[in-house]
Amino acid sequence: MMDRAALQLILLGVFLISASSGPVKKKQNVDIYSFYINSTVTSRYATTVITSRVANTLNESQEIQFEVKIPKNAFISKFRMVIEGKTYDGVVKEKEEAQQQYNRAVSRGQSAGLVKSVGRTLEDFKTSVTVAAFSKVTFELTYEELLKRRLGKYELLINAQPMQPVADFKMDVHIQEKPGISSLEVKGDLSTGDLGNAIKTTRADKDAWVTFYPSRDQQTKCKSCGENGLNGDLLVTYDVNRQNPNGEIMVSNGYFVHYFAPSDVPRISKNVVFIIDQSSSMRGRKIKQTRLALLRILSDLDEDDHFGLITFDHEVSLWKHELLKATEANLKNAKSFVKEIKDRGATDINAAVLAGVDMINRHPREGTASILILLTDGDPTSGETSIEKIMGNVKKAIGTKFPLYCLGFGYDVNFDFLTKMSLENSGVAQRIYEDSDADLQLQGFYEEVAVPLLSDIQLKYPGGTNLTKTSFSLYFNGSEIVVSGQITDNSVESFTTEVIAVSKGSNVTYQDTTIVKDPSEVPPENEGFMQRLWAYLTVKQLLERQVLLKGQEKEDEKKEALKLSLKYQFVTPLTSMVVTKPQEGDVEVADKPKEGEREEMGERAYAGYDVDFDSDISHFHPPTLMHFPVAEDYNDHMIDFPLPTLMHFPVAEDYNDHMIDFPLPTYGSPTMHTITSPAVQVHSNRFLVPVVGQSKPLCFDVPVPHKLRLLQDSASEFSMNGESLSEQNGFHQIAIHYKTNHHLIISTRSISYRNGQDNVEISWGQELTQHNRDGVSLVVLKNEMNVTMGNIGVVIISHNKDGVMFLWPAIWEYPKDVNLTGVLGKSDISYVKTKGSQTATLKIKDKEVKTSLEAVSDYRLPSAPIQECWLVPFQAVMEAEISDFTITQL
Ligand SMILES: *[C@@H]1O[C@H](CO)[C@@H](O)[C@H](O)[C@H]1NC(C)=O
Ligand SMILES: *[C@@H]1O[C@H](CO)[C@@H](O)[C@H](O)[C@H]1NC(C)=O
Ligand SMILES: *[C@@H]1O[C@H](CO)[C@@H](O)[C@H](O)[C@H]1NC(C)=O
Ligand SMILES: *[C@@H]1O[C@H](CO)[C@@H](O)[C@H](O)[C@H]1NC(C)=O
Ligand SMILES: *[C@@H]1O[C@H](CO)[C@@H](O)[C@H](O)[C@H]1NC(C)=O
Ligand SMILES: *[C@@H]1O[C@H](CO)[C@@H](O)[C@H](O)[C@H]1NC(C)=O
Ligand SMILES: *[C@@H]1O[C@H](CO)[C@@H](O)[C@H](O)[C@H]1NC(C)=O
Repeated sequence: MMDRAALQLILLGVFLISASSGPVKKKQNVDIYSFYINSTVTSRYATTVITSRVANTLNESQEIQFEVKIPKNAFISKFRMVIEGKTYDGVVKEKEEAQQQYNRAVSRGQSAGLVKSVGRTLEDFKTSVTVAAFSKVTFELTYEELLKRRLGKYELLINAQPMQPVADFKMDVHIQEKPGISSLEVKGDLSTGDLGNAIKTTRADKDAWVTFYPSRDQQTKCKSCGENGLNGDLLVTYDVNRQNPNGEIMVSNGYFVHYFAPSDVPRISKNVVFIIDQSSSMRGRKIKQTRLALLRILSDLDEDDHFGLITFDHEVSLWKHELLKATEANLKNAKSFVKEIKDRGATDINAAVLAGVDMINRHPREGTASILILLTDGDPTSGETSIEKIMGNVKKAIGTKFPLYCLGFGYDVNFDFLTKMSLENSGVAQRIYEDSDADLQLQGFYEEVAVPLLSDIQLKYPGGTNLTKTSFSLYFNGSEIVVSGQITDNSVESFTTEVIAVSKGSNVTYQDTTIVKDPSEVPPENEGFMQRLWAYLTVKQLLERQVLLKGQEKEDEKKEALKLSLKYQFVTPLTSMVVTKPQEGDVEVADKPKEGEREEMGERAYAGYDVDFDSDISHFHPPTLMHFPVAEDYNDHMIDFPLPTLMHFPVAEDYNDHMIDFPLPTYGSPTMHTITSPAVQVHSNRFLVPVVGQSKPLCFDVPVPHKLRLLQDSASEFSMNGESLSEQNGFHQIAIHYKTNHHLIISTRSISYRNGQDNVEISWGQELTQHNRDGVSLVVLKNEMNVTMGNIGVVIISHNKDGVMFLWPAIWEYPKDVNLTGVLGKSDISYVKTKGSQTATLKIKDKEVKTSLEAVSDYRLPSAPIQECWLVPFQAVMEAEISDFTITQL
């Protein structure tokens, strides 16, 4: 791989979500001798620099990786490598241009490693470079973000996972806030246990410092760390003083920023309508979590709030026809209604939202704030299903009178549609991740909008131009409105801000004038930040608005966003960073992943898993807080997977074309096949049983659908089960359990592994992806997965036959001295052929069995070659009935 002339790396957001698991191979020949994370926050604008210094301790050149996780909200703004005194800087280019370079490399036949990943809050940046023997490399990555105030706190999230214990590890956070810091807290899994002692916080009036200098020893001993060193997050939360109700205004170098977050305002009572999807896709954990969250939210309503509840599937049900006051009696009644919410039917979003709008419109209350909250997990499938028409109807009905918030549950929702519909109606869309903490996510969202303080907020800056968004429908306690812009006349001595809003039915105005300081007074490190903050916010908002615009306006705004991204070297969805490496012509491209693209990852299967195992998995739910699934991926040169070498001792196998209408072999009970009338197509999975010393394997059929015990070893508490669907080959889901805490669920769409701590999500079709820890090794490459748990190794192949996906398990080597059971558990079958060439009798375990030579697709191999086998009854091989292997739960 070192001689490849170009290697390309694109971070997108499609495939891989895995958890905080350490790297698979300990790179003994690489010494990360120093790892610094340096974060500077100036007035909520955070710039973080990660610097990793690595030595190649090998006597030959090798590829050295640099991989870090950064917050999704951030833009990468700089990447640099220093090798042998020379500096290689990444350059941000228009995406198409970078893509062309990438395509050229591919068409030249050069290896192009696609890395695509995005997690719930973090995304992955990864690169590698070839470093000469005993040489060193320095990687430096910078990213920038404006910290958002949520529930009264700004949150700075820093992930640290250097991949090995580092002699010189330092994390420095410096927060500078002009109005003074009112509270500061350090949380996250890196702050727990012994590691907590490595954290020091220092506070002055306007500054705070957090340092985290864990010793090499401490780096291996924390809860989420292992022999690969630190692996986790630090979350620094803080808030600032707010003496001035008009907000904080800063002016510098022709730019200004205004932070507006009054809190000494009475709350406005709400009219809130919850529109809850109860379509059948909400089945299982999702609907349970929704009920739980709603019950808590109802308990949080204030008595002067009015509320309504609407549930919908293909029809719309109202709890009550109008909004009712949140009195104790009404809440009690509503809670009984919530407890009865059941999943059923299709999804009529149009009718449900219109019913909600109507409910609010019929109940105008002076001086209140109306809010509509839609929760759905799917596309509109019933009633009006045209997205365009639904959006038109909803926009017309709401008529800018109040905001619509859309919560998209899981990955089957059309999140672009929800985003667009909420933006059109001055709300926001938020994704609720399918996880054990979904109820907390729902509740968290509600808390953010629970206390409206102002409505119809207009911010005015007479001396400003090129302003970011200045009009907001509601301002909630605990949040913050930030407006930035340029100053028309840079020589002005004062700058005026004016905010007009409605508070509890009366108009209020906040007016302030700031003296513009002499620029020479601005500390040099602050000079650029405000301009960058303005650019950051402008680009974010331009990109967000893209979904609402059409035609020329859309193009113009896109162009503007691109121009700013290039000028400020932000890696945004419109740009890519191109890194030229020391090797001749070697180029890498890093893109910003797009969240929605993860839809392909297919949480559908995952949802099925939740439904089926709801009661069983509660004990291995991952921790609910600070849980950031992220990506991991390794290049092919790092393969070091301890699977035993391939021995031709094949086993399981399937063939499964439709009708079983061949003459039945007879053995034991001759009616073993569930063959019905010839008109009915009976599907079955055909398993291949290789036999040592014989050229033709045996095979047997198992009718579908079924849930089967495929392999079990009671001694090591290992079991593998598979579920087949009717009308389909192979298995649509395979579950592997090991000891009490390891659970691997493999579906045709994704792979999910939990061990009580980690929550690893891998999807099919990737470049090599590995997870290796605690005697569990998972290796996925394209459509093949190797799983080793303890001393048992199995291979799962994902097949695509005529567009239908299915899984097939294979065991290439049976561990010795292990008593395996299950459909694939037999490894010691032998037979003797007694007569005939096409139809024959075999002697298996001293029993005569009639057989015929049949075809079988060997699905144990990705190419699924067709081969011949002696078809025998299940009982002849297994010495048991199929029912002895069927199970009720995977
Ligand atoms: C962090 O950045 C600040 C400001 O650029 C600098 O003064 C400080 O030395 C840096 N700290 C480390 C550990 O690199
Ligand atoms: C590296 O060292 C090993 C043993 O220490 C030796 O066998 C090998 O030839 C060396 N390689 C080079 C390129 O010098
Ligand atoms: C807004 O939040 C602050 C704390 O962040 C609290 O002190 C204040 O009472 C809240 N205001 C209302 C109206 O709830
Ligand atoms: C506003 O932005 C436009 C485009 O970026 C620029 O041409 C113009 O000079 C800016 N206005 C001011 C007052 O700087
Ligand atoms: C608030 O101001 C708007 C226009 O600025 C006006 O139409 C409205 O009547 C005012 N409301 C109150 C309560 O004064
Ligand atoms: C899985 O193991 C088999 C047999 O050892 C090997 O041929 C194959 O390449 C492995 N696949 C992956 C994805 O590592
Ligand atoms: C293997 O396990 C099965 C079922 O658990 C049991 O019936 C059988 O006796 C065991 N055989 C050996 C050799 O341990």
